[in-house]
Amino acid sequence: MAILVTGGAGYIGSHTCIELLNAGEEIVVMDNFYNSKPRAVELIKEITGKDFKFYEADMCSEADMEKIFAENDIEAVIHFAGYKAVGESVREPLMYFKNNLGGTFVLLECMKKYGCKKLIFSSSATVYGIPETVPVNETFPLSAINPYGRTKLMIEDMCRDLCASDPEWSIALLRYFNPIGAHASGKIGEDPNGIPNNLMPIIINVCTGKQAELKVFGNDYPTADGTCIRDYIHVVDLALGHLAAVKSVREKKGAIPYNLGTGNGYSVLEIIETFQRVNNIKIPYSIAERRAGDAAECYSVPDKAAKELGWKATHTLEEMCRDAWNYIKTNNGK
Ligand code: UFG
Repeated sequence: MAILVTGGAGYIGSHTCIELLNAGEEIVVMDNFYNSKPRAVELIKEITGKDFKFYEADMCSEADMEKIFAENDIEAVIHFAGYKAVGESVREPLMYFKNNLGGTFVLLECMKKYGCKKLIFSSSATVYGIPETVPVNETFPLSAINPYGRTKLMIEDMCRDLCASDPEWSIALLRYFNPIGAHASGKIGEDPNGIPNNLMPIIINVCTGKQAELKVFGNDYPTADGTCIRDYIHVVDLALGHLAAVKSVREKKGAIPYNLGTGNGYSVLEIIETFQRVNNIKIPYSIAERRAGDAAECYSVPDKAAKELGWKATHTLEEMCRDAWNYIKTNNGK
């Protein structure tokens, strides 16, 4: 029996495939390379020395999904596939609803048809909206502040309804905080197509000269240095969280949310300072206007995942910054 990984060539997906293979799990991977590259699939094999079946497939295609389920004995699904750019989702909401909701719907129907009722879903801290207080735990109220966030929240709701309708389903809703960093080998990392939106890929672009400077969005927030605070987590820690969730969906029923964060909050200026220090490189930056929709502070209480999944993030911020830059140096723009 195998675990199907949708979006397995993407940033978090590829790191998770490595940890699954290293732990001896059998995987089947699918991706349509919308925001990833075929080379990632080869690199997962190279890093682990293990082989797996890969499908270039679209989760919105019933025929594609049907083929994967018909040809394999799928025990559980880790569902990463989806669009993830907040700004784009505001400009093109229908594109987000069609792909993220439509694709998940096709996947869930197929799972139901084949009696596969174990799912691990890539949710996001965005489902907490702008939290009224920090740190954030899983009982905080949920809301959506943009179409991307709405797709995450609606998929969580679909999963809760599914579990309410049939107690045989086991679903882990993994609410990621801010994943950064890369695999220690330097072979895989974050490789967004097009212009990046998130802080770390933008810092990288500034360091490689693709962008002149980093704009720090606001320094008048009610935080110690005035810049926003987030819970950055090493992507390998996040990948290991999925491995822990696989064990959990094998044992527990129902739709259960887990925060995957470190529990530590760092400001934008602290990220800049740490990245400069550990990599001995200068990041030119200037202070700009606040970005609409940004919370001043968002960091997790990660205790539930520690207690129930037996998982804890262990990488430091220094390691996250070092590994993110190591990936770029190792690949030299490849
Ligand atoms: N930032 C800048 N300049 C930039 C880019 C970002 O100052 O050019 C700041 C932001 O204002 C924010 C921090 O860096 O304070 C992190 O921003 P990101 O865009 O990297 O991450 P967000 O916290 O805004 O969003 C991330 C994910 C979303 C997810 C959200 C959940 O990208 O998918 O966390 O909290 F929904």
